[in-house]
Amino acid sequence: MLTNYREIFQNCLPSDRLHYEGEVMEFHSKDETEDLYFKPGIVAEPISTLEVSALMQLAFEHNVSVTAGGARTGLSGGALAIQGGLVLSLRRMNKILLIDEINQQVIVEPGVVTEVLQNAVSEKGLFYAVDPASRGTCSIGGNIAENSGGPRAVKYGVTKDWVLNLEVVLADGRVIETGANTLKNSTGDNLTGLIVGSEGTLGIVTRATLKLQPLPRFQALMLVPFTSVTNACKSVSQIFRAGSMPSAIEFMERDAVVLTQEFTGNKEISLEPNDQAYLLIEVDGFYESELMPQCERVLSVLEANGAGDVLFAQSASEKEKLWYLRQRVGEAVKATSVYKEEDTVVPRGMLPELMKAVKSIGMKYGFRSICYGHAGDGNLHVNILKDDLSDHVWSVDLNKAIRELFDAVVAMGGTLSGEHGIGLVQKEFMDIAFSKDELSVLKMIKNGLDPKGILNPGKMFPNE
Ligand code: LAC
Ligand code: ZN
Repeated sequence: MLTNYREIFQNCLPSDRLHYEGEVMEFHSKDETEDLYFKPGIVAEPISTLEVSALMQLAFEHNVSVTAGGARTGLSGGALAIQGGLVLSLRRMNKILLIDEINQQVIVEPGVVTEVLQNAVSEKGLFYAVDPASRGTCSIGGNIAENSGGPRAVKYGVTKDWVLNLEVVLADGRVIETGANTLKNSTGDNLTGLIVGSEGTLGIVTRATLKLQPLPRFQALMLVPFTSVTNACKSVSQIFRAGSMPSAIEFMERDAVVLTQEFTGNKEISLEPNDQAYLLIEVDGFYESELMPQCERVLSVLEANGAGDVLFAQSASEKEKLWYLRQRVGEAVKATSVYKEEDTVVPRGMLPELMKAVKSIGMKYGFRSICYGHAGDGNLHVNILKDDLSDHVWSVDLNKAIRELFDAVVAMGGTLSGEHGIGLVQKEFMDIAFSKDELSVLKMIKNGLDPKGILNPGKMFPNE
């Protein structure tokens, strides 16, 4: 029987915030994951917790599946309504409710765009460090759902390290708070931690209290070429062992840089013919005088690993250009070929082994890959390109190759996703990261909070 969404939800929100067709519906049928497309049955755009609660009560009563979403920038298909149903778009809940300068906290609604939050708090000398490449469009709700990271996670942590407390609407519409607005909390189980990264499968986040820090006002940024990929990767753990704590260590293979230069049309940085990989390294501080001693420590490690001539960004605009190059890599890859992205993460000292495994599996299956990512976190975005491979090879061998890659990653002490989440596209590999018993614990939690299985069904768990 066809669900009559109009009948179920029509009295819940004004009709201009309920959509059954048109642009809003199209927008919520996609995200940034490959070219996936799933049309919801209905899109609702609540503007308050009360409205979210009312929507959930009805969805629960009528067994309608509910997929939370907002900015549509996800990279694992987490916000795609693969079974249709209701897409609960939180993009209109986009208010910064309170910047608490005394306690260095901020209370936000989930639809606040990450960069808007960063700018609002930086005007007050405060810092929200989580900084995904999509920060100009992604929203805090999505960052919480996927436990997003970005370049500065290496020094400042990922989203989970910045979330103090959440308001969550449960599957049946009840509203809870997960913790307290405190920096410490040893009061019972860590419900906040449970919700962060749960991809809308356990509840709908309607408000978040986030930690802030004093804003580090000074940064030095350097682009470092290497003729050896292994040496670039080896340098990363050595930099920390030398007593340095950079605010970012990003890795880009030569092809990633070349592709992005072509994509953006900006080839200002000239690449030496033998350079094979680059590290983009940032150090920061509250005083300018803190930067040079940190750079010196980093430079001595780079020199010992045979790095080429280091390019120091000399001005704010040069820094911006280097970061722009790094942040556009994902889009450049996407524009190049049909591709599949894996968000592998290993203990950072294993990065050289991870790169070797990626390339040897690629050789075995005939796949070209372009790798880049947050080397300081051991987080490598592995983009496997279809190029001109046949559909047959692509469909038959790709999953085998990815399985082999994830087996290698887990054997190195790593796991499937560092910051993009499992969502739809990685769920079939969850058995590599979790044993049967471990998966059953995840399932118990899921069943406890979502007894009817209406919250983002078909995500995170294999074979669903
Ligand atoms: C990046 C995104 C893809 O690091 O996570 O650019
Ligand atoms: Zn990333």
